[in-house]
Amino acid sequence: MKVGIIGVGGIARLTHISDLLSIGQEIVALCDINPKKLEDAEELVGHPVNTYLDYNEMLADEEIEAVHICTPNYTHAPLSIAALKAGKHVLCEKPDSISVEDALAMQQAERESGKVLCCIRNNRFTPTGKFLKKFADKNGTFYAGRCGWQRVRGIPGKGGWFTTKEKSGGGPLIDLGVHMIDLAIYLMGNPTPVAVSGCTYTKFTDSELSNSVHSMFGDRQENGTFDVEDLAMGFIRFDNGACLQIEFSWASNVEEELVYVELRGEKAGIYLRNGVAKLITEQDGAMVSMHPETDGGDGHKNCFKHFYNVLQGKEERILTMEQGVNMIKILMAIYESAKTGKEVLL
Ligand SMILES: NC(=O)c1ccc[n+]([C@@H]2O[C@H](COP(=O)([O-])OP(=O)(O)OC[C@H]3O[C@@H](n4cnc5c(N)ncnc54)[C@H](O)[C@@H]3O)[C@@H](O)[C@H]2O)c1
Repeated sequence: MKVGIIGVGGIARLTHISDLLSIGQEIVALCDINPKKLEDAEELVGHPVNTYLDYNEMLADEEIEAVHICTPNYTHAPLSIAALKAGKHVLCEKPDSISVEDALAMQQAERESGKVLCCIRNNRFTPTGKFLKKFADKNGTFYAGRCGWQRVRGIPGKGGWFTTKEKSGGGPLIDLGVHMIDLAIYLMGNPTPVAVSGCTYTKFTDSELSNSVHSMFGDRQENGTFDVEDLAMGFIRFDNGACLQIEFSWASNVEEELVYVELRGEKAGIYLRNGVAKLITEQDGAMVSMHPETDGGDGHKNCFKHFYNVLQGKEERILTMEQGVNMIKILMAIYESAKTGKEVLL
């Protein structure tokens, strides 16, 4: 398909451009408000493309069939809606939006457009993520779990849009929570969230340390804004009685960076720690732990393949805006709970 990318900063350069080319889609247009980034991205594409400083001009190009949105969080809803209205299919970076109203408006715009809008959940699409889903579906109910992404020091784009609430929607909860909460809920069979409780903290605005490769995203801004949390802890209840503990930090005095999902089921337990999976079960009178030899990479590339296969009717869709709305409801309710000190019903 003929594809345009809006926003050619960190994630577009790291995955979207190269992965789109490697799966045989045709990049025909790039858009960014920063001309230098546009120039660098065109070089990375390796062939001439139409370039735009204004996304409205790009969306007016009838040749473009699908649009990837890789801009800061607060633009996801307006850009997705504009692209759908212009008759394009949309693959939008996570998080879906920075408010429940925006997520609902995206869902509504998708319904009215007859086009497809998917928000990226790359962790579902790694070989390990796909293996764990098959395992979870075959091994009964997973009724309780924990998930998180704790960084010791790994604040992205300090002072820039990532740490500015009106542009990001929040700190590590919205930035990293989308990844691991989604994977946990997906493996649990997508139960509906019904209540949440949470606390958030902001303690490291003055720290200049970084020991996480993941803090490379976003441009730093000296003397910029830092009005989001750097740690969020919480608890989610689901309609089927299941529960999930969560913790997400950009900066925290913990031993090491850890990205994890742990799920407890009657028949088995699932552990995923820093990309390495382990399955725990009882067999022939003994506890057994198994380590699947799967890979934790290519999440974006496989997510893109899924999106284009869905558009071509070759694959059943697994990324829905209903799930996206539920995710944003969870995140926003945790922020509300942190403010009020009370559990919030969804
Ligand atoms: N799925 C993942 O693993 C993953 C990883 C990193 C980032 N992301 C998401 O990708 C998005 C971008 O993050 P990033 O790290 O690439 O940020 P970034 O700041 O490096 O890049 C954003 C780009 O968007 C451009 N931009 C801003 N407003 C624009 C507009 N109105 N029109 C056109 N261009 C505009 C900026 O100039 C910049 O080049 C964020 O939503 C982030 O959450 C996802």
